[in-house]
Amino acid sequence: MNGRLIAMEGLDGSGKATQTALLCKALAERGIELRRISFPDYDEPSSALAKMYLNGEFGSNPNDVNAYAASSFYAVDRFASYRRFWKQDYQNGALIIADRYTTSNIVFQLSKLPKERWDDFIDWLQDFEYNKLELPRPDLTIYLSMPLKVSQRLLTGRYHGNEEKKDIHESNESYLAACHESAVYAAQHLNWKIIRCAEGEKPRAVEAIHKEILQKVMEGSQ
Ligand SMILES: Nc1ncnc2c1ncn2[C@@H]1O[C@H](COP(=O)(O)OP(=O)(O)OP(=O)(O)O)[C@@H](O)[C@H]1O
Ligand SMILES: [Mg+2]
Repeated sequence: MNGRLIAMEGLDGSGKATQTALLCKALAERGIELRRISFPDYDEPSSALAKMYLNGEFGSNPNDVNAYAASSFYAVDRFASYRRFWKQDYQNGALIIADRYTTSNIVFQLSKLPKERWDDFIDWLQDFEYNKLELPRPDLTIYLSMPLKVSQRLLTGRYHGNEEKKDIHESNESYLAACHESAVYAAQHLNWKIIRCAEGEKPRAVEAIHKEILQKVMEGSQ
């Protein structure tokens, strides 16, 4: 019996790692067996191409690598992670919580294409990752919706004001603004659960966001 897979999505700095950690802790306290995964799998060699892309080795503008090429870098990293680390657990019925997943390719690559090609890209991506690479489909996707201004401020805080630490996505506000627009489209069309993470220009309290996510996850498991 396959397990369940929950994907946490959101733009850079929207709180995915923070909320994934809290969710895993809360579920573990309830005795639920789970496994936490995160993409890109930075500690493993399978993330090499994604890292090269984010470091700007194919060009300093995200648009220097087209949506299909960039998506393939991230997809093969997921294939390696699935096959090496969590396929067994998933197939034995465990709950898998992913900080980013196939859904990140939609959020970050869709914006490179004109709007009239978005549906085609989504169909291609889902066929590639779920059918051809045989990666499991998420049962639930949580989308952390945080205005760009707020998430950029949080990221600058995380990097202690050192803007040079930002990768080619994080440092490109107009690209991230375009990603925000495509993410809203995807969240609505693909039935992601949208969590509002800020009020105006202020992030909501970490704990309040957590409670809402936990509620969505518990609802989904009934
Ligand atoms: N609701 C919140 N209020 C205040 N600070 C927050 C909130 N959520 C996250 N943070 C802080 O903002 C920064 C970014 O959060 P986090 O690393 O969880 O985001 P992320 O979505 O995983 O980022 P990335 O996309 O870069 O992986 C961290 O320093 C974190 O502690
Ligand atoms: Mg993160």
